[in-house]
Amino acid sequence: MNLLYLEEIDSTNKYAKENITSISDGTIVYTQNQTDGRGRLNRKWSYLGKDNIYASIVLKPSDTILPVYSNLTQLLCLILCQTFEEYGTNPKIKWPNDVQINGKKISGILAEAVMGKGVLKGIVLGFGVNLNTTQETLDKIDQPATSLNIETGKTIDREEFLEKLSTRFCLLYNKFIEGGFLLIREDYIRRAGFLNKDITVKVLNEKYCGVATDVTENGALKLKDKNNKEHILLIGDIL
Ligand code: BTN
Repeated sequence: MNLLYLEEIDSTNKYAKENITSISDGTIVYTQNQTDGRGRLNRKWSYLGKDNIYASIVLKPSDTILPVYSNLTQLLCLILCQTFEEYGTNPKIKWPNDVQINGKKISGILAEAVMGKGVLKGIVLGFGVNLNTTQETLDKIDQPATSLNIETGKTIDREEFLEKLSTRFCLLYNKFIEGGFLLIREDYIRRAGFLNKDITVKVLNEKYCGVATDVTENGALKLKDKNNKEHILLIGDIL
């Protein structure tokens, strides 16, 4: 993968989308100073200092959108987990693509497709990872969060982390586009922190409550409500 480093940018996702034609397939755009980071559901992604990861992977798999592209965030989520494990931690996935360590969020993913004249110009897979922060900084975030230096007791080298992650991504990506979510389903489920628990999932303006029973071969969440009715959720957020 190519690395494209920017000293400062409002959002690596926004930059990647705006420059999609000139950025080659398989490039990781990253910065040490993201001034207006965006999260899922129109939320903001806080800037926690320069020694963290603010990055976007640019992918150009084909001119049309295939269903498997919607699972790319789950692939990246699994790869993030495997990379965190290399540092001796025990990450858990919060469906669909948040990673938590000891119940606190450590990374987030925001995927965006860029279309032009009915053609898919590219996919931007943005991710933020808390690598090196202080507890004081984390306490200012609106949800429980942690960082890899706090979990390991060691300072984390950003370039080394990106290298480990991109190596794993390269190894799996082509196979994943061919095989789909099924290829990683077992590895994903092994790290799922939400299964067999009572949860509430917000899907657009609806809320579903019940026990998370499984993740389907397409990466959807199976939920059984109190009337034993099964729901298959393709998108949503566990509250
Ligand atoms: C979320 O959990 O809400 C997703 C957060 C994604 C944040 C990353 S940081 C790099 C990239 N650029 C952005 O503006 N957002 C993503």
